[in-house]
Amino acid sequence: MEKPIVIANWKMNKNAAESREWLSFLKADLKEAEREKIDVVVCPPFTLLTEMSRSDASVVWGAQNLHGEDQGPFTGEISGGMLREAGCQYVIVGHSERRWKMGETDEMIHQKLQAAWRHRLTPILCVGEQAREKSENKTERVLLDQLCFALRDFVKNQIESLIIAYEPVWAIGTGTVGSRPAATPADVRSAYAIIKQCLGQYNLTARIIYGGSVDSKNVASFFPLDDNQGFLVGGASLKPLEFGSIIKQTLKNYAGN
Ligand code: PGA
Repeated sequence: MEKPIVIANWKMNKNAAESREWLSFLKADLKEAEREKIDVVVCPPFTLLTEMSRSDASVVWGAQNLHGEDQGPFTGEISGGMLREAGCQYVIVGHSERRWKMGETDEMIHQKLQAAWRHRLTPILCVGEQAREKSENKTERVLLDQLCFALRDFVKNQIESLIIAYEPVWAIGTGTVGSRPAATPADVRSAYAIIKQCLGQYNLTARIIYGGSVDSKNVASFFPLDDNQGFLVGGASLKPLEFGSIIKQTLKNYAGN
């Protein structure tokens, strides 16, 4: 089985001093993860990327967003080329906070994926249903629509690498650990089956991970899922103790696999 990936999404949190402190607290855990070939990706705010990616920390860097174009009159936006230059190897695309709070459309997400691959960034494509859609039994429809729209027209050899994060909107925390219940392993299992069905249709492969209120207390409940290849962690990634515990538990579970 492929080694797992643990991704920290800091959202709009942490300044330079706090980031340095975070890295130094987690130094040993990050080294150990690197040794065991578990990818730990950190997605800080843009302003921290250049400095942080020059540190000797055993992490790989990612961004939380990018624009679909490479340059031009797009005030406040950032391109894939700029992210590469700032030391990024990964980029989150289509996070629900961007879809629902910033009005990102499926078409924009499709263009962002294209831009990510143009610049050899691995996209972490987020998909997930809202609470109302879940209660109306529309999860399958929503996931297939989001995936099909995002991935249409791509052919296998265009896609160097892809991560799909199942992030049900109703499970995403408000910033504090434990603020929302995570999805159940059963929810995640059925979402993964839908995602795999769609990938199969397009003849694509991707690493599939779960995000939504993952913390040190519930992370182990996702280990029995065969297809799970890691986690996208928001609120709990801000706290070094929490994130360190998620890394340690992941290491222990996947060691020797
Ligand atoms: P959360 O965030 O872990 O705080 O729920 C996950 C995410 O939004 O990527």
